Amino acid sequence: MKSAKIVGLGKYLPSNRLTNTDLEKRVETSDEWITTRTGIKERRIVSSGEAASDLAYQASLVALKRAAIAAKDLDAIIVATVTPDTQFPSTACYLQNLLGASKASCFDLSAACSGFVYGLTVAWQFIAGGFYGNVLVVGSEVLSAITDWTDRSTCVLFGDGAGAAVLTATDKGGFLSSYLGADGSASDILILPAGGSRHPASIDTVNKRMHYMKMRGNELFRIAVRVMVQAAKKALVKADLSASQVDLFIPHQANERIISAVAARMHIAEDKIYRNIVRYGNMSSASSAVALCEAWEEGKIKKDSIVLMDTFGGGLVWGSCIIKWV
Ligand code: UT7
Repeated sequence: MKSAKIVGLGKYLPSNRLTNTDLEKRVETSDEWITTRTGIKERRIVSSGEAASDLAYQASLVALKRAAIAAKDLDAIIVATVTPDTQFPSTACYLQNLLGASKASCFDLSAACSGFVYGLTVAWQFIAGGFYGNVLVVGSEVLSAITDWTDRSTCVLFGDGAGAAVLTATDKGGFLSSYLGADGSASDILILPAGGSRHPASIDTVNKRMHYMKMRGNELFRIAVRVMVQAAKKALVKADLSASQVDLFIPHQANERIISAVAARMHIAEDKIYRNIVRYGNMSSASSAVALCEAWEEGKIKKDSIVLMDTFGGGLVWGSCIIKWV
């Protein structure tokens, strides 16, 4: 059976840098606390008026150029995001218009920080099934728009950015396995309470600051480590590989301590772990997309490399995939 391979990667990070020192002036926090508890030093923040599709557009242009595929030849565009430009139309539709990808079907995918891996899996299956030839998958987030800048327990963690991947069919290598999981019973641990049909926007929801992310970080931390280990192991079993055969481990960049704990439990060596949380913080779906792109740009992914991606986020949702680079 055919598989899919990634033929182009791109990223876009807004130029505005928000450092831990900047945050010390906004809330009662310190560079020392943020660095030791999370591993984050700075994050990028959009300029006024910049939305998820704008970031996605810049990342996609790079990915398409590297793939040498024209936008008009895309069969589908999947944008993973929890910060769409609007509730509807989808951010994928805005992106299609910006790119001039008139042939592409378009939809957004809501799987929080696991959105990019969920999106890659959907695209892979579209291609493997012969339904589509070229699929663009983007993780794009403007988390600064839903961050409560008075809440020190969340505002130090998140940043804005986008990463994009172009997928096409392959007879050899490419996606070897994927595992997607979810637990809807724990949906209130990380949530954007208002703005949907449960709590439509009103003066009351705004006054109660319900349009900002709420997170019980400590609880999430423990679950994240457990399910990321489980997801990585499941993908390895499906691909008939052991952890020692992984050349590069690209975990979701939510917390440096989560990354280290998962890697230690998986017995993955330090030099095989990719990290960029220090520069960007947690960008939800864009985190693993940007990490994959940067790892490739830095020459850490070569032909035949076995890459394990492993993610976790609000929903709760988790997902992993293994790619043999071709
Ligand atoms: O991507 C989606 C998934 N997200 C995650 O997986 C996030 C997972 N969770 C985490 O990364 C960590 O739990 C956090 C970084 C959010 C928090 O770290 P923690 O070590 O779990 O800290 P904590 O929440 O237990 O808080 C410890 C202390 C508290 O003070 P007391 O009660 O001990 O006096 C907090 O009030 O740290 C305090 N605190 C802060 N202090 C300075 C919380 N936020 C801050 C802050 N600066 N920004």
